[in-house]
Amino acid sequence: MAVSSSSSLLLLFLVFGFAAAAKDYYLDGKTGAWKIPSSESDSFNKWAQSVRFQIGDHLILKYEAGKDSVLQVTKEDYVSCNISNPIKLYNDGYTKVRFDHSGPYYYISGEKGHCEKGQKLTIVVMSPRGAAGKSPTPAVNSPAPSPAEVEGPGPAVAPAPTSSATLLQNGGFFVAMGVIVAMWLF
Ligand SMILES: *[C@@H]1O[C@H](CO)[C@@H](O)[C@H](O)[C@H]1NC(C)=O
Repeated sequence: MAVSSSSSLLLLFLVFGFAAAAKDYYLDGKTGAWKIPSSESDSFNKWAQSVRFQIGDHLILKYEAGKDSVLQVTKEDYVSCNISNPIKLYNDGYTKVRFDHSGPYYYISGEKGHCEKGQKLTIVVMSPRGAAGKSPTPAVNSPAPSPAEVEGPGPAVAPAPTSSATLLQNGGFFVAMGVIVAMWLF
């Protein structure tokens, strides 16, 4: 009896933890508008650095089909704004990408000249064990962290909560809570 109730409690925490981990984000956190940013302080990377992207999350970018596009490119092509060899090309006006692995993803506009004017985006997806790691801060001119650097050291530990929003974004926290509660019950 006690065993089965604590087991289902653990299951509940695990399910809740994984459900909380997959989120949909609009680019910029609001409209999803993929366009030349109005200023440096308005850049997409500034927003992206404030978000802890997890595997399974989606990013939605909106723009006028035929007038713009989204290219996923290598780091080299991102830095040099080279639109000639995209890894992936999206041009339907409503692009929803799913992050299926941790590490950096590089996006630039496929329209000539737009990337040079700041329409570019780096997303760094946290490793599954990276919940306790520090926030990545990729910058245009500094090398982006490799997946190994993004990965947190040692076993996953629940981070000190800073806000309820951070808690909700952090599926790992709930998984850790489930384990702690289960150990306490047993
Ligand atoms: C873009 O990349 C291709 C292939 O790597 C290269 O041939 C081309 O010169 C590059 N273009 C620019 C403008 O750097």
